[in-house]
Amino acid sequence: MYVSSNRLCDPKNEGKHCGYPGRQRKRIIVRPVQAVILCILCVPCGLCLLLAAQDWAPRNFSRIDWQPTRAVEGASYVGTNTCAKCHSEQARSQPLSPMGLALQRGKDTQVLRSHPRLTFRAGPFAYTIECDGDRVIYQVSDGQHTISEPVLAAFGLGDAGQTYLLQHEGFYYESRVSFFNDVRSLDFTLGHPRKIPESLEDAVGNKVSRGKAVLCFACHSTASVKGTTLQLDRMIPGITCEGCHGPGGKHVTAMESGVHKEPSIFNPGKLQAGDLVEFCGSCHRGSFQVELTGMSGIETVRFQPHRLTGSRCFRPQDPRIGCLACHNPHQSRSRDAAFYDAKCLACHPAVSTEPTSGQSVSACPVGKKLCTDCHMPKFVLPGGHLEFTDHRIRIARTKAFPD
Ligand code: HEC
Ligand code: HEC
Ligand code: HEC
Ligand code: HEC
Ligand code: HEC
Ligand code: HEC
Ligand code: HEC
Repeated sequence: MYVSSNRLCDPKNEGKHCGYPGRQRKRIIVRPVQAVILCILCVPCGLCLLLAAQDWAPRNFSRIDWQPTRAVEGASYVGTNTCAKCHSEQARSQPLSPMGLALQRGKDTQVLRSHPRLTFRAGPFAYTIECDGDRVIYQVSDGQHTISEPVLAAFGLGDAGQTYLLQHEGFYYESRVSFFNDVRSLDFTLGHPRKIPESLEDAVGNKVSRGKAVLCFACHSTASVKGTTLQLDRMIPGITCEGCHGPGGKHVTAMESGVHKEPSIFNPGKLQAGDLVEFCGSCHRGSFQVELTGMSGIETVRFQPHRLTGSRCFRPQDPRIGCLACHNPHQSRSRDAAFYDAKCLACHPAVSTEPTSGQSVSACPVGKKLCTDCHMPKFVLPGGHLEFTDHRIRIARTKAFPD
C-alpha cells in the first residue's frame, strides 16, 4: 500500500553505499511524489500518517543503514544491557523513562503489575483486562457471549491512556478501553466513538489495518519493523538506545577492540537544532508530516516539533531552542515550570536592558519566572485525560489555539 523514499542500503556494503549519518551528511530534497501517502486515522495519536514522512534519515543523509522507526536487513542490534556495560549513566534512567516504556508486553506491563485485574462497563458490554500467567488477556462480554484474546502489546504509560493492541480472527484491534493514570482505571480510548457498538466484535475496539499496526510498532518500539513488515520476534519493546543511536553491533566491536578511528555510532547530539527537530519529529511529527496529512487545529498540539518550529523563538541553527535545550532524551521530562526558566533566559533578558551578547531579544514586561505557564499554555484534547503543552511559544492573549 505504501512506498517509501527509502534508500536503505546493504550494511555489508559499508563504505560504498552505507555509513552512519554523523559522518556522511548531505541534505536531499524530497520530492513529494516520492512520498506515497498512507492516510489513515491514527486514533490514539490522533493523526493521519504518511509513512514515507517517517523516514527522516534518508531525506537528510545520503548514506544511512537504519531509521529511528525502521530496522534493516542484517542490522546487528545488541540491546540495552550491552550498552549499559559502558554507558551506565544513560542506561540507569533511559529504560525507565516514558520513551523507554512506550511499548510493553505481557505481564511486565507496569500498569498491570499494580492493577492485575481491570474492569469497565459500557452499556451491555463488560470489559476485563487481566494477567494469565505470562500473558495479558483482554475480554469483552455481552452477558451471553465473550470474546477473549491475548494482548499483543500495551502502548504508552497511561498519561494520555495505555491502549492495548490485540488480534481477533486475523484482524488487529485497538482496544476500545484504555487505562488512565488520572482516574487509575479504564475509560474509553481517546478518539473512539462513545455510541453503543452494534455487535460484540465492534465492542472489542477499532479495527486496525495491518499497515497501521506496523506504524504503531514503528514509533513505539525498536527494530520491530523491517521495510514495511512487522518482525515481532526481533522487537525490542520501547524506544531503546538503538532506537535513536542505530544498531550498535559495529560500535561495540570497535570499542571492545580498543583500536578505532571513530565511534561508528550515530550521535544525534551532533545535529543542528533544525535537523534534530526533524529527527525527533520522525516519531513526534514535524511540519512536513503534519502538512502532508492536512491536519490542523487542536489535534496538532501533540506534535511538538511542528508547533515549536512555528514559534518566533525558533532558529534552525540555534541549539538553545532545539529539543535538547529543554529535554534530556535519557530521562523523564521535568514537570516543574521553574526548570524551564533558565532555558528561556538563555535568549531573553530577565529585565529590559541594553542587549548583551547572546541576549539580543526582547524581555518580558509581565513576568520574571515560570515563563512556560504563560507562554506555553496547556490544552486538553476532547475526551482526553491529559494536558499537552503547546510548543508554539507565544503571547497567549486568548484561550484559542492558533494554527
Ligand atoms: C565496550 C564499551 C562500550 C559499549 C558496550 C558501548 N559503547 Fe558507546 N562508547 C564507548 C566509548 C569508549 C565511546 C567514546 C568513543 C570515542 O569518543 O571515540 C563511546 C561513544 C558512544 C557514543 C558517542 C558517539 C559520538 O560520536 O559522540 C554514543 C552515542 C554511544 N557510545 C552509544 C552506545 C550505544 C547505544 C551502545 C549500545 C548499543 C554502546 N554505546 C555500547 C564504549 C562503549
Ligand atoms: C522511535 C520514536 C521516537 C523517537 C525517535 C523519539 N521519541 Fe520521544 N517519545 C516517543 C513516544 C512513543 C513517546 C511517548 C511515550 C509514552 O508516554 O508512552 C515519547 C515521549 C517523549 C517525551 C515525553 C517524556 C516524558 O517524560 O513524559 C519527550 C520529552 C520526548 N519524547 C522527547 C524526544 C526527543 C527530544 C527526541 C529526539 C532526540 C525524541 N523524543 C525522539 C517516541 C519517540
Ligand atoms: C509517527 C509515530 C507514531 C505512530 C505511528 C503511533 N504513535 Fe502512539 N505516540 C507517539 C508519540 C510521539 C506519543 C507521545 C506523544 C503523544 O501522546 O501524542 C504517542 C503516544 C501514544 C499513546 C499515549 C501514551 C501515554 O503514555 O499515555 C498511546 C496509547 C499510543 N501512542 C498508542 C498508539 C497506537 C495504538 C498506535 C497505532 C494505532 C500508535 N500509537 C501509533 C508516536 C506514534
Ligand atoms: C530518544 C532518543 C535517544 C535514546 C532512546 C537514547 N539516546 Fe543517547 N543520545 C541521544 C541524543 C539526542 C544525544 C545527544 C545529547 C546528549 O548528549 O544527551 C545522545 C547522546 C548519547 C551519548 C553521548 C553522550 C556524550 O556525552 O556525548 C551516549 C554515550 C548515549 N547517548 C548513550 C545512550 C544509551 C546507552 C542509551 C540507552 C540506555 C541511549 N543513549 C538512548 C538520544 C537518545
Ligand atoms: C523551550 C523549552 C522546550 C523545548 C525547546 C522543547 N520542549 Fe518539550 N516541553 C517543554 C515543557 C515546558 C513541557 C511541559 C513540561 C510539563 O509541565 O510537564 C514539554 C513537554 C513535552 C512533551 C510531553 C507532552 C506535552 O506536550 O506536554 C513532549 C513529548 C515534548 N515536550 C517533546 C519535545 C520535542 C520533541 C521537542 C523538540 C521538537 C521539544 N519538546 C522541545 C519545553 C520544551
Ligand atoms: C534561541 C533563543 C530563544 C529561546 C531559547 C527562547 N526564545 Fe523567545 N524569542 C526569541 C526570538 C529571537 C524572538 C523574536 C524576537 C523578539 O520578540 O525578541 C522571541 C519571541 C518570543 C516571544 C514573543 C512572541 C510573539 O508572539 O510576539 C515570547 C512571548 C517569547 N519569545 C517567550 C519565550 C519563552 C517563554 C521561552 C522559554 C520557554 C523562550 N521565549 C525561549 C528567541 C528565543
Ligand atoms: C503571568 C504570565 C507571564 C509570565 C509568568 C511571563 N510572561 Fe512574558 N508576557 C506575558 C504577557 C501577557 C506578555 C504581553 C505583554 C504585552 O505586550 O502587553 C508577555 C510578553 C513577553 C515577551 C514579548 C515582549 C515584547 O516586547 O514583545 C517576551 C519575550 C516574554 N514575555 C518572555 C517571557 C519570559 C522569558 C518569561 C520568564 C522569565 C515570561 N515571559 C514570563 C505574560 C507572562
